[in-house]
Amino acid sequence: MTLPSLFDLTGKTALVTGSSRGIGRAIAVELARHGARVTVSSRKIDACHEVVAEIQAAGGTAIAIGANINDKAQLRALVDGTVATHGPVDILVCNAAVNPYYGPISGIADEGWDRIMNANVRSNLWLCQMVGPTMAARGDGSIIFLSSIAGLRGSAMIGAYGVSKAADMHLARNLALEWGKQGVRVNTIAPGLVKTDFAKALWDDPATLKNVLAASPLGRIGDPRDIAGAAVFLASKAGYFVTGETIVVDGGATIGGSL
Ligand SMILES: NC(=O)c1ccc[n+]([C@@H]2O[C@H](COP(=O)([O-])OP(=O)(O)OC[C@H]3O[C@@H](n4cnc5c(N)ncnc54)[C@H](OP(=O)(O)O)[C@@H]3O)[C@@H](O)[C@H]2O)c1
Repeated sequence: MTLPSLFDLTGKTALVTGSSRGIGRAIAVELARHGARVTVSSRKIDACHEVVAEIQAAGGTAIAIGANINDKAQLRALVDGTVATHGPVDILVCNAAVNPYYGPISGIADEGWDRIMNANVRSNLWLCQMVGPTMAARGDGSIIFLSSIAGLRGSAMIGAYGVSKAADMHLARNLALEWGKQGVRVNTIAPGLVKTDFAKALWDDPATLKNVLAASPLGRIGDPRDIAGAAVFLASKAGYFVTGETIVVDGGATIGGSL
């Protein structure tokens, strides 16, 4: 076959926030495996360098740039550093997020609400404002937000986080409309429970895990690599006609079936 694979990302530049571990790390590694030049980023630069070393050892191209998603100047430097080394960003994956509050949304303090909304929604908008216009001017680009099935369903425990993840879905729809005619696609991935540090409080609790597994058609929770395929799809020509969408990757957890 002489035609390149629909999933080929050769020559593309990808920036992935929160890619020192968990889902972001798996996405960065898989984007690089498919040919993209990747920027690995999180607050802890040493952990990012480890991911870069893994990618380089496998023959891929990657750099590490530290950035806190709550700091606009650091995000500006992250984008500028990526462009200076790899060239303009073709694939932006807004993956880093926080959930500092477990409890009823009716009881959340302003500080907790602001932390969740600023990290999970505002930082995504900032990055899009920095990268999207250049993508639009060049006539091509893929932006991916890591949302969650918590943005699709109500919750008495992680409701504020869920609001932020629902907001990401709607941010994607709005930006998909704004930039679609210029060839920029904006989508979200909504994972179910995945075995990472982020969700340890859930999968490490035997009662919660039992409930999750009972409601899971596949009978398991996710591995970070389970999520990365959807990102490669959305980043590549394979997903070229998909925009404003949310791809649920949850082992079937949200399909229902109470009887
Ligand atoms: N795990 C799940 O069950 C699950 C389910 C649905 C959706 N998600 C979503 O998937 C995404 C990734 O989650 P994960 O489970 O892979 O989390 P994780 O394993 O805890 O990794 C989080 C990543 O984000 C970075 N990070 C955290 N705060 C940051 C900040 N303020 N600025 C920059 N980077 C920051 C962390 O590195 P540093 O600490 O070095 O900054 C790390 O690289 C999130 O959007 C999450 O909401 C996860």
